[in-house]
Amino acid sequence: EAATAFLRALPKCEHHLHIEGSLEPQMLFELADKHGMKLDEAMYSTIPALEERYRNFANLDDFLAYFNKAMDVLIDESDFAALAHAYLKRVHSDGLVHAEVFFDPQAHTGRGIALDVVVRGLKKGLAQGEEEFGITTELIMCFVKHLSVESAQQAVVEMQPYVASGDVIGLGADSSEKDNPPSKFASVYDTAREVGFPRLTMHSGEEGPASWVRQTVFDLGINRVDHGVHAADDDELLDELAARGTFFTLCPLSNVRLRVHTSVSESPIPKFLEKGIKFSLNSDDPAYFGGYVLDNYLAVHDAFGFDKATWRRIAQNGIDGSWCSDERKAAMS
Ligand code: ADE
Ligand code: ZN
Repeated sequence: EAATAFLRALPKCEHHLHIEGSLEPQMLFELADKHGMKLDEAMYSTIPALEERYRNFANLDDFLAYFNKAMDVLIDESDFAALAHAYLKRVHSDGLVHAEVFFDPQAHTGRGIALDVVVRGLKKGLAQGEEEFGITTELIMCFVKHLSVESAQQAVVEMQPYVASGDVIGLGADSSEKDNPPSKFASVYDTAREVGFPRLTMHSGEEGPASWVRQTVFDLGINRVDHGVHAADDDELLDELAARGTFFTLCPLSNVRLRVHTSVSESPIPKFLEKGIKFSLNSDDPAYFGGYVLDNYLAVHDAFGFDKATWRRIAQNGIDGSWCSDERKAAMS
């Protein structure tokens, strides 16, 4: 169809992709086999049954139970490399030109995987994909909000060599938002600034309220917000964020699968456009949420039917909001 071809050809950037969330059921079963691991029968029987379960998440925490369990099959460097490479191969056919990739180091080191195995493996797979497909990539570590502030501090400090080498350019925060206001983690971001992380972002306002997005931006001084859809409940806040140039990484299909919205048509995307808020459209955890980046663009087009000029503006805002050089941005446009 014409709209599909147009959206595929748009130069798209992805800024909200958890690499562990690109672990497809097929690869999960293959890696379990490779490592001779016995998967929990109650969660993992067959691929179709698992896919059906993924269509019925009750909320963020229900999803996180699967997300955090499946990654047990990622063990050696080649597993992480294969995961990253498979993601780039898949999104190349979607017309993705630049990817800023999240990973959760604590989720791996906490089960005895060396940090170097994780980072080396991911970098290897990304570099191979970059060479093959011409997609530029960056790595962003996320600390997990369900573990302690001390654990997050430690994860940030341990990342220092990879920040110094440029292998990891940013810090984010993900996992359970319930009972975890941004203010709880202010000291972690202070440490990240001391360690020298060039870029900062945070999952905020996915299930949590607009006031938590305000905390993220104004109290913690973070000017990129992952999800942030609940900021739309506060018009005054939206005006302030537009003036500040706060960038949002929106994940429309994720919001439906995790029951933040009942359909994509509930997304605040039109309101953000109207207010002049800059954002990108992303897949979050494509193996779990029924679509990669182009599927998200298509779902938004189905819901709102934007004209070509609007779509070009959305794509250009995604390029402008990327954490890459001006030279690279110019080449993507
Ligand atoms: N980890 C992976 N995906 C996530 C999401 N959408 N929100 C919070 N933590 C996550
Ligand atoms: Zn996310």
